[in-house]
Amino acid sequence: MNQPVTGFSKKSKAEKIEWIAENYLQSNPNSVQILKNYWNDDPSLQQLHDDFIENTLSNYYLPFGIAPNFLINGKLFALPMVTEESSVVAAASNAAKFWLERGGFKAEVISTEKNGQIHFNFFGQEKDIEDFFEIVKPKLRDSIQTIEKNMKARGGGLLELSLVDKSHILEGYFYIHATFETLDAMGANFINSCLEQMVHTFEEEARNFETFQKDETYPEVVMSILSNYVPECLVRAEVSCKVEELTTKHYEGKHFAEKFVRAIEIAKTETRRAVTHNKGIMNGVDAVVLATGNDFRAVEAGVHAYAARNSYYGSLTHAKIEDGFFTFWIELPLAVGTVGGLTSLHPLTKLAFEILQKPDAKELMKIMAVAGLAQNFAAVRSLVTTGIQKGHMKMHLMNILNQLEASTDEKNEAMEYYKENAVSHSSVVSFLENLRQ
Ligand code: MEV
Repeated sequence: MNQPVTGFSKKSKAEKIEWIAENYLQSNPNSVQILKNYWNDDPSLQQLHDDFIENTLSNYYLPFGIAPNFLINGKLFALPMVTEESSVVAAASNAAKFWLERGGFKAEVISTEKNGQIHFNFFGQEKDIEDFFEIVKPKLRDSIQTIEKNMKARGGGLLELSLVDKSHILEGYFYIHATFETLDAMGANFINSCLEQMVHTFEEEARNFETFQKDETYPEVVMSILSNYVPECLVRAEVSCKVEELTTKHYEGKHFAEKFVRAIEIAKTETRRAVTHNKGIMNGVDAVVLATGNDFRAVEAGVHAYAARNSYYGSLTHAKIEDGFFTFWIELPLAVGTVGGLTSLHPLTKLAFEILQKPDAKELMKIMAVAGLAQNFAAVRSLVTTGIQKGHMKMHLMNILNQLEASTDEKNEAMEYYKENAVSHSSVVSFLENLRQ
């Protein structure tokens, strides 16, 4: 049985690799080599990646691809996308091309406010905490002056502080709600530093507040942290065209538009569908979030909470047909940055920003919302017409061929054959068996 290890983080990288190989990878004689195969040849670049996290052993590659032809507010973009899902970039590219020929995407940022909370207990009189809050509020503001200085100079910083009473839901529970403008930064470090500084001030001032002293009842801070729920940091993206313009070789525009709108209505009504529908949207959003070194867990958490804001979980996209026009749009809460974090550290992230023509955070929000809308358009279009498996399995074919260790010639023959035939794992196995006989 494996034993716990102490002082692991202090070991050298070579010692860590030796330890994992000896303790968990005994059955794989190639394990050390596999880890080393993914090291960067340039030691300084490898060091950069090693330093992103603790206990780095190797690098985990994901494809970095490009979806071109995104016309957004009249400007042409090629979107860098990082994803492991074979059909995502192809679907985005198809949707981009489709809408390029129909006027492109329009996108606008609705709001950019971030927020955080100081959660605390208070079991005294409600009036006392309200009085205290009014007195302490300017002191809380003053206490973060140093942290805020640079952000403020650029036009951002703390916006508002308010006291929220939640004691009717959880006995003695209150929080201070703090709102921020963090400009081109996602702002997590900035917000958390401000909140933690304000906690110190809050606690110190509370200890000296006479009313609390008299009753010997003080507020007790439980924690302070930013919120990844950012419904006041909102972006909207849209496509629209005449219904007839949706007509393609295989589908008549009006019928397609009606089926499409119906599919969105189903995703608004039924959680089981909505989750998959929104997952498809996030295939596009996350791929750009990852390529630009942003925090996809934060984005995911916030987006899904937003999808459930009306007390049920529904579609993030909307569609309608009005006066012969088809309109399809998305509204997403996105707290993302173009400075700070990995954005200026990871060489591929820096390149992604160059490809995107150095957007600011607002522009990036628009690009991501468009990526989500395009991805959803591609998915729903397939779903209401051919089904997704045709396109999906075509893209997956190369993964199956690689899994089955097909040679270049075998791959070429398979690609030719599956232009006309449906792909399935078992069919590819038989195809290769036949070739190899
Ligand atoms: C697959 O990754 C995403 C889809 O399931 C999305 C959807 O169903 O809308 C195709």
